[in-house]
Amino acid sequence: MAESSLNNTAVLDCLKELADPEIGRTLSELDMLKQAKVGDDSSVTVEVELPTPAYPKRERISDSIKSAVSDRFPEASGVTVEFSHKVRGKDTGGTIGLNIKNIVAVGSGKGGVGKSTIAASLALGLQKSGARVGLMDADVYGPSIPHMLGASGQPAMVEKKTETGETITRIEPLEADGVKLISMGFFVPPEQAVVWRGPMLHKALTQFMKDTDWGELDYLVIDLPPGTGDVSLTLSQLVGLAGAVIVCTPQEVALLDAVKAISMFRQVNIPVLGIVENMSGEIFGRGGAKEKAQELDVPFLGEVPIEAEIRKKGDSGAVSQLFDEGNPARDSLNNMCEQVAIQIARQLLETPSLPTLEIL
Ligand SMILES: Nc1ncnc2c1ncn2[C@@H]1O[C@H](COP(=O)(O)OP(=O)(O)OP(=O)(O)O)[C@@H](O)[C@H]1O
Ligand SMILES: [Mg+2]
Repeated sequence: MAESSLNNTAVLDCLKELADPEIGRTLSELDMLKQAKVGDDSSVTVEVELPTPAYPKRERISDSIKSAVSDRFPEASGVTVEFSHKVRGKDTGGTIGLNIKNIVAVGSGKGGVGKSTIAASLALGLQKSGARVGLMDADVYGPSIPHMLGASGQPAMVEKKTETGETITRIEPLEADGVKLISMGFFVPPEQAVVWRGPMLHKALTQFMKDTDWGELDYLVIDLPPGTGDVSLTLSQLVGLAGAVIVCTPQEVALLDAVKAISMFRQVNIPVLGIVENMSGEIFGRGGAKEKAQELDVPFLGEVPIEAEIRKKGDSGAVSQLFDEGNPARDSLNNMCEQVAIQIARQLLETPSLPTLEIL
């Protein structure tokens, strides 16, 4: 009999063309195969690097790897698949000194649809999966994000020296449940917020984006104010966003507003990652957003039911507890986070160089 062909390279070769079940590209295109090791006892260990720690149902990958290896190498005594992750991204904030792989805006056409709740949950869910996450409240009308995460206090201003020896002042984000967070509301006196429009908002947001010391992040989630495109335009001029998540409720009027939001994001060159249906259930109905997403050919990122727990935890600064084992909101929120993370990874492959608008 010929010498056994079971070796590290042969194992990797037989896995290259396997398709990733979520993103639909091959493991080799996605650069997910890190290593294969064949032990003296002919046991095989394959190391897979996922593009996001929020990768759903990873056992599907291990199952298909296991059967591919055992089919090709019947002599293998056993196959183990080990997972690690490295979030892929564009590092597009580089031009303004940010070290953030993916900036995700959460927007809606209409107020009150649960945008802040979804933004906070997205940040927390991604963090709990193992990512490094920041959360920014870009709504100058009121800092609801810190309240939802039970964070209090004012961010510190810290003097730092740059590489060229200059002293600059950076804003230190607060931290809650492992998420770094900051709100523009901290810096805008409430009585002034109503007059902050156009150029003033642009200037403040620019300053804010440049001066916050986020450190290294895999994801920065931004809670946008509802409706207007001002903030989105400014962001798009400053950094390349991974995309926008649109939140809407199942009612027809909210869906129409979502359509407007989609066209607004497209106008300012921010890719639309998809639509989340929030508060789906008996009162408002359900499924409307999914249909609308199909009609508009944008991804559907899951539905989050109307659930008393969500309001309670939001109001008491404990959104994080929605992810506790047994919490009725947990599965739908985790699913939403996974769908967003996968969509970001997909989008990255489809549009390798993100467009940034010229700074005006
Ligand atoms: N799925 C849900 N089930 C029950 N209550 C929810 C749900 N999502 C959000 N809420 C509640 O609805 C209210 C509005 O939510 P939230 O503040 O997140 O909306 P918003 O779109 O950010 O509003 P605004 O436009 O004022 O910024 C909050 O009290 C929140 O707790
Ligand atoms: Mg809000």
